[in-house]
Amino acid sequence: MLEYLKKYWLWAALAPLFMCGEVFMDLLQPRLMKTIVDEGVLGLSNGGVGDLGLISTTGAKMIGLVAVGGFCGVMSGVFANLCSQNFGNDLRKAAFRNTLALSPGQTDRFSTGSIITRITNDITQVQQLVTQCIRGFVRTGMLIVGGIVCMLSLDLSFGAVIACSLPFILFCVIYFIGRANPMFGILQQKLDNVNSVMQENITGARVVKAYVREDYENARFGKANNELVDTQLNILVLFSYMTPIMNILLNASVVAVIFLGGIRVRGGGLTPGAVMAAITYITQILNAVMRMTMIFQTISRGTASGRRVMELLECSPAITDGDFEGETRLKGKVEFKNVSFGYGKTDILKNISFTVNPGETIGILGETGCGKTSLVQLIPRFYDVREGAVLVDGVDVRDYKLEALRDKVSLSLQKSELFNTTIKENILWGRQDASDEDVAKAAEIARAKDFIENSPDGFDTLVAEKGMSLSGGQKQRIAVSRSILKGAEILIFDDCTGALDLKTEAELYERLNKAEKNMTKIIIAQRIASVKSADRIAVIDGGRLAAFDSHERLLETSEIYRDIYNSQLKAG
Ligand SMILES: Nc1ncnc2c1ncn2[C@@H]1O[C@H](COP(=O)(O)OP(=O)(O)O)[C@@H](O)[C@H]1O
Ligand SMILES: [Mg+2]
Repeated sequence: MLEYLKKYWLWAALAPLFMCGEVFMDLLQPRLMKTIVDEGVLGLSNGGVGDLGLISTTGAKMIGLVAVGGFCGVMSGVFANLCSQNFGNDLRKAAFRNTLALSPGQTDRFSTGSIITRITNDITQVQQLVTQCIRGFVRTGMLIVGGIVCMLSLDLSFGAVIACSLPFILFCVIYFIGRANPMFGILQQKLDNVNSVMQENITGARVVKAYVREDYENARFGKANNELVDTQLNILVLFSYMTPIMNILLNASVVAVIFLGGIRVRGGGLTPGAVMAAITYITQILNAVMRMTMIFQTISRGTASGRRVMELLECSPAITDGDFEGETRLKGKVEFKNVSFGYGKTDILKNISFTVNPGETIGILGETGCGKTSLVQLIPRFYDVREGAVLVDGVDVRDYKLEALRDKVSLSLQKSELFNTTIKENILWGRQDASDEDVAKAAEIARAKDFIENSPDGFDTLVAEKGMSLSGGQKQRIAVSRSILKGAEILIFDDCTGALDLKTEAELYERLNKAEKNMTKIIIAQRIASVKSADRIAVIDGGRLAAFDSHERLLETSEIYRDIYNSQLKAG
């Protein structure tokens, strides 16, 4: 964390420096007050005759000090905020960058809600921690030490008051902080929960409505929110005990100063002005000690948050670059060699071996949950195999630089992820430097051009968040256009034409085959009709490769394939 702060060391040093200036002015005020009372009003060294001139010059000095102190305070605030805001900005960017570099498995483990809390609220808490450290902490620390020194320099007997009251107050501060400290970590976790429920419900608003689950979800949000409020309340209630206790101690100390001062004045050892100054000092000291609690509160909350931010920052990406730059003689060959893979303890894919030759079209069939998506996600290395190897163009995917590997692969996901921008921008995601003609051509192949051109602004029509303004089939075709535009060697369609009618789907594949002869195509489908014309079809059953052959041969040799075929024939 400190390395992010190092860059702003100058501001971090100037803030406490100016703070010293402000506190110094604060500590000078009671001294001048003493002069006004003792000399200006009481005229102690002038036989009891006051001095109006002295009152006005000292008063003017006091106003001058206030102005200088104020200026120092402003400068200290400016530098402290410059430092903490810029530090927070860097930290937030770094945390976001690292989040993007994590593997899907790692992001799942953190959960989206928690990542959002960490990058927003937690970093804000850390920023406040920085501000308090370079400003609040310095201020209160100086006030306490400086106040004690000033008070003792007025009269050493005041040391007795300090010696009695300070331990009491310190004990209170430590007690309250000790009690509250563990609650701050819990508070951030509760905030994670609130954010998670909120995020799920906003992105899944349509499902919630469709199943009329508003009451259930409201209750779920209510529960998460209540837990957050309860934790917050526990902390606040704890601290609300503190203020009255501290006030009693503070007032008792003031009375003690007056009492002791009274005795000393009567004995002639002290002036009334000095007692007044001592009252101001003891108030300043004890107020500063009290403020320490708030500062420690920010510090313990900030450290709890800091730990959470560091967890995210220090989570090193599970999937990292190899050395291979990606230059190969072969273009578009994919080999699975004895591949086993699982997300948890159990293997989802078991000992799968097959080869896809450059330019081939391969279909993948199998019932839902049998591992088709998992299988193709191993090609761009979203996950690493547990055993065996996946080879692209003859090279193990783990040896590739990730960018080089992923440049070779174009993947259209089952759930078309569209971004909140125009249709054209969404397609351009595939290849930023593509021309308008290229975009139109890709859309034409994907059978998307007609409906796009009939949209209000054509290719410039805005896609609402997550493509909510489009039908499932339209979204799929935009996503397919994007992956075609990328022009990668290996094109993978993960069940991404399932929302199209058979005729449109058949036309799409026909155009694709004609336009992109050299691309290797791997097509996951639910319907045999979608992959019937593929060169070969892999049939996955319970994570194993049950058969791998052409449609005609599979009908002869594979019982599973025949079953699927017959059931779909009956249905269709
Ligand atoms: N991110 C994930 N974490 C844990 N388990 C997963 C994940 N994705 C899929 N699975 C599990 O892996 C199995 C295969 O899923 P998947 O490959 O998506 O199947 P298919 O695409 O054939 O429907 C399923 O049992 C599913 O529950
Ligand atoms: Mg799937």
